[in-house]
Amino acid sequence: MKKHILEIALEVYDSVSELPEEIQQLMEKAQQSRDEAYAPYSRFKVGAAIQMENGHIVTGNNQENAAFPSGLCAERVAIFHAGATYPDVRMDVMALTAKSLNQEVNTPTPPCGACRQSIAEYEKKQKSPIAIYFMGETGKVVKASSISDLLPLLFDSSFL
Ligand code: THU
Repeated sequence: MKKHILEIALEVYDSVSELPEEIQQLMEKAQQSRDEAYAPYSRFKVGAAIQMENGHIVTGNNQENAAFPSGLCAERVAIFHAGATYPDVRMDVMALTAKSLNQEVNTPTPPCGACRQSIAEYEKKQKSPIAIYFMGETGKVVKASSISDLLPLLFDSSFL
């Protein structure tokens, strides 16, 4: 038996103002999109903004449904929107922010497992990492340089 210890590398910023200027702008787009989320059931709004290599920014927010599983998270709305609109353009950075209408969210809110799997698919497709910055409404911001830091041992097409 061998033990494998996995290491993940994350950067933590004390607040959004510590981020590089272009990431602050990307986070602002994510915040704008978040505030437009359709989340009447959970009252938990999430926004995503993706910086594309061609300079475009693609956004998405969570879209809920009375039949709960029919809704979709912000990250997948954004990444599918990007994949559909710019199929051959690299995605470089994703910014995420969450806000609850019930209480202040000040802990960084990471993407859910299903969204991590979807993000992994596009990293594999484009053969380059997508950096992910995530935060709540206020407070610290966490950066993962690649989805593999958030989803170690991920399943991808290399197993098929
Ligand atoms: N949600 C996202 O949009 N992204 C995540 O990664 C976590 C959860 C949404 C789904 C649902 O509309 C609401 O937040 C509560 O789970």
